[in-house]
Amino acid sequence: MGRDRFGLEMAGSDAAVAAYDEALGHLLRFRPEVVAAAEQALAADPGCVLARGLRAYVSLMSSEGSDAAAARELLKGTASTHPRERAHLEALAAWTAGDWYGASRRLDALLALWPRDVLALAVGHQLDFFVGDARNLRDRVARARAHHDPREAESGFFDGMWAFGLEECGEYVRAEAAGRSAVDRNPGDVWALHAVAHVEEMQGRVREGVADLESRRAGWWQGNFLNVHLAWHLALFRLEADDHAGVLELYDALIHNAGSAQVAMEMVDAAAMLWRLHLDGADTGDRFARLAEAWTKKDAEPWYVFNDLHAIQALVGAGRLADAERRVDRLARFAREGDDASSNHRMVVAAGLPAARALCAFGRGDHGAVIRHLAPVRHHLAVFGGSHAQRDVFQRTLVESSVRTGEGALADQFLAERLAARPGSTFAWARMARRRRAAGDVAGAVEAEARRAGERAALCA
Ligand SMILES: [Fe+2]
Repeated sequence: MGRDRFGLEMAGSDAAVAAYDEALGHLLRFRPEVVAAAEQALAADPGCVLARGLRAYVSLMSSEGSDAAAARELLKGTASTHPRERAHLEALAAWTAGDWYGASRRLDALLALWPRDVLALAVGHQLDFFVGDARNLRDRVARARAHHDPREAESGFFDGMWAFGLEECGEYVRAEAAGRSAVDRNPGDVWALHAVAHVEEMQGRVREGVADLESRRAGWWQGNFLNVHLAWHLALFRLEADDHAGVLELYDALIHNAGSAQVAMEMVDAAAMLWRLHLDGADTGDRFARLAEAWTKKDAEPWYVFNDLHAIQALVGAGRLADAERRVDRLARFAREGDDASSNHRMVVAAGLPAARALCAFGRGDHGAVIRHLAPVRHHLAVFGGSHAQRDVFQRTLVESSVRTGEGALADQFLAERLAARPGSTFAWARMARRRRAAGDVAGAVEAEARRAGERAALCA
């Protein structure tokens, strides 16, 4: 038995443990080299159970069913008598079987016994994100963080994780402080930088968001798994400034292009950005068509409905309504006949299927149906994972449909909510102007338009 850099026992030769330690460092930095380092550990000692586990976790974190199958294959026949390694294998078995919630609980139980297990912490943190558990995004890290000396080399990364959890819980001041401190300690901490971007997004601090991401572009634009997502965040700020050309420039440069890796995590962001532009009536050229084509090559069987929802956005946006409806039918069948022990089943039934139906209804121009499907579940969308900022694409769809369908009272309610949270929202003021005009309130419409123009001018100045 060797010991990892955090002092925990693990099976493996010295060379394997050293490579595993290196892999952990890459994992904290979202670097793709994590794969090669884990494989190097396995090559040095095939009996290094945690290197195998780490490699399998990386596959699972792609959120694609085909990668989960690969993880299952990699783990076949792997066993250990060491209690911590066995706990990891049990968490992996749960996740590969589709029990994302069970895997998360097992990693929590593991961390209660071995709070310095950084593999369990980093992977558990991502699992909390996948299942939309904001409380645990914050508190899993809070519990573990207490067991690391702040002077330890890697402890800044725990602050970065904690920052994201705090942000998802709405604790923006503490989130920003923790995130900025983490970035100061490690300029390559893309997850901490991402947490700060989330705070700025939620508070509508567009200019600061752009400045932070632009000034640090050299640190995140390439060489990490989060670069597309950070470009997406930058595009979100540009969208709020009504800079559609700037959004498309980022889209083509990094979010999705012919050289993209065509992985679901990145295609989710691509679809969500195009869909937002679609809600604004912007011309996106043939981008939806190209993205929809990429999505059709993905998983045939339901695995993670968050991905299906974005595939459906791409298909609807590309005008491939029949293909989108087929994907919805598949989800409906899964809701009726699928394994109700799987986490995805709960996600689909609780909110995924209604949200998917709403997207298709939007494509048909049936805005009354969008509201019927989406309004009842709009406060429960976290069940299928993602961040507040990502799930906002559904809230925006609902607002847009309420304005288009002439459901005046409902539109007024949605707009009041959004403007209370973000008084400078150009998205909301644009809809407010249309809503007032439809209601015959010309003065109100002119005032809303002026407000939108003023906010846009301030953001672009
Ligand atoms: Fe994000």
